Amino acid sequence: MSQKVVLITGALGGIGSEISRQFIQQGYRVIAVLTPSNEPREERWLQNENIDGSQVRFVRTNVTDHEAATAAITEAIEAEGRVDVLVNNAGITRDTAFKKMSYEQWCAVLDTNLRSLFTVTQPVFNKMLAQNHGRIINITSVNGLKGQFGQTNYSAAKAGMIGFTKALALEGARNNVCVNAVAPGYTGTPMVTAIREDIVEGIKKQIPLNRLAGPEEIAAAVLYLAGDSGGYITGETINVNGGLYMH
Ligand code: CAA
Repeated sequence: MSQKVVLITGALGGIGSEISRQFIQQGYRVIAVLTPSNEPREERWLQNENIDGSQVRFVRTNVTDHEAATAAITEAIEAEGRVDVLVNNAGITRDTAFKKMSYEQWCAVLDTNLRSLFTVTQPVFNKMLAQNHGRIINITSVNGLKGQFGQTNYSAAKAGMIGFTKALALEGARNNVCVNAVAPGYTGTPMVTAIREDIVEGIKKQIPLNRLAGPEEIAAAVLYLAGDSGGYITGETINVNGGLYMH
């Protein structure tokens, strides 16, 4: 039996790093998708995160570039020979009140967080159908469920991911491909620490557990859905938000 393979977008990000690390700990190989740049981030990341580089295939591609990303992802899957899990984790914010939001801020978030799902998921999903097994986990957000002042773009994209999850779950079921979402609350990553301190303090006060999530608490939900115990869950969203939103 060859090693299981997981493809993770935004694999070097705040939550993505921890998801990558936990999959490697569980014996997976990781196809780590990250955005192209001249900065050599890979080596530093492996060192900082204490990750075994022999278990990682880096793919530098922009998930908003449909043709280039489709080609790069298809090539990586073929090189590995299999893909057992996909984690659609890449995401950005461009927070601004809607009355002041530019069309560029709207499109940047919709393109990266939602439109990219087509590009990344289709080659992986088709391979999973042929294999007759697979798990797809989409990282949405509490703010896709409850809405958030300043995030019309982000909330729209994250809510869209949940609809995508349910529809694709119906299409994957007959081939044993389960599709779910994890909806993190406010998590201790650079995306959240970038928010003005007084605003973060205000948000923390609204969280019943009275603290931010740790990235490892989000990754644990992803690993659960990917593992043997998660095999009868599909079309579902697991909320990991400290009680910030219950529905
Ligand atoms: N509800 C109602 N009104 C609000 C509000 C809220 N939650 N937040 C701000 N406002 C009002 C303010 O009271 C203020 O009103 P006045 O003009 O009448 O005084 C007005 O909106 C402007 O507020 P700010 O001074 O904060 O304006 P700003 O332009 O400096 O910033 C903002 C606007 C960028 C949206 C800022 O409020 C902000 O960063 N908010 C937090 C957004 C947020 O939670 N983002 C999540 C990022 S993390 C993430 O996305 C990960 C995840 O999945 C959870």
